[in-house]
Amino acid sequence: MNTLPLIGHRIERYMVVASTNDLVRAAAEGGAPEGLVVTAEEQAAGRGRLGRKWIVPRGTSLQLSILLRPPLAPIAGARVVRMAAVAVAHVLEQHLHLTPVLKWPNDVLLGGRKCAGILLESSLSGDRVDYIVLGIGLNVNYTMRVYPELAPRATTLQDVVGHEVDCAALERALLVELNALYARLVQGDVLMDEYRARLKLLGQTIRVATATEILQGIARDVSDDGALILELDNRSVKLYAGDVTILQENALDVS
Ligand code: BTN
Repeated sequence: MNTLPLIGHRIERYMVVASTNDLVRAAAEGGAPEGLVVTAEEQAAGRGRLGRKWIVPRGTSLQLSILLRPPLAPIAGARVVRMAAVAVAHVLEQHLHLTPVLKWPNDVLLGGRKCAGILLESSLSGDRVDYIVLGIGLNVNYTMRVYPELAPRATTLQDVVGHEVDCAALERALLVELNALYARLVQGDVLMDEYRARLKLLGQTIRVATATEILQGIARDVSDDGALILELDNRSVKLYAGDVTILQENALDVS
C-alpha cells in the first residue's frame, strides 16, 4: 500500500477512545506535525456539532480525526470544513456511485438523511491558525433501525446501498481525496464550485436556529468564508453557525 503524502502519513488506530478529536488535540499540543490521523472503532464520548453526541455501534463506521496546520488565517476553518464535506461527497460518488448532497454548513446527506458529519475544533495563535482538529464521522455498516429515534433524519451506507461496504477501502479513498483537496486549499483554491454544486438549500425557504434566535428566509448563497447568506423580508444576514431546516410544502423536516 502506498504511503499517503501528508494526511495519513501516520495513522494511529484505537479500539475504544473517548473522542478521536481529543487524542489529536493532545498530539497537536505536544507538537505533532500535521497529517496525523487517529481512528477509533468506538468512541465513548464522540462529539457532534452544537454540543450533540456522536454515537455509532462499535466497529461499524469511519470515525477519524486529522491534525492540520494550514498556513492560513483563521478564516481557513470554514474552508477546511468545506474541503472535508466535498471529500466525503467525492468518495461516495466515485466509489459507491451515490449522489450525496451537502447541507450547510457541513452535513452529507443521502436521500435527505444525514450519513456523515464533520466537527472542526481549532486553536488560534494571533491571526494565524495554530492547529485544526478535523473530525469526520461516516455511518457505514449498520442499519439505522438500531436507532429508531434517529432514523427519520439519519442513514448509513449499508441502508442506502443494501449491503455492507469495505470500510478500509473507503477510509483509504477518503484520505487520498483529502490529500488532493488539501493541496488545492493551501494553494488558495477555496473549493466553492465543488461545494455549491452539491449544496442542497440554495434558493429554498429555510429556518435556521442559531445560538440566539430562529430566523426564516431564503438561502441565497454561501460566502467564501463559510457564512450562509440568508435573505429575510427586508435585509440579508450572514450566519456562521446554526441548524438548518428546509421548509417544504409538506413541512417535512429534513434537518
Ligand atoms: C456533526 O455532524 O455533528 C459532527 C460529527 C463529527 C463526528 C466525528 S467522529 C470522529 C470525530 N470525533 C468526535 O468526537 N467527533 C468527530
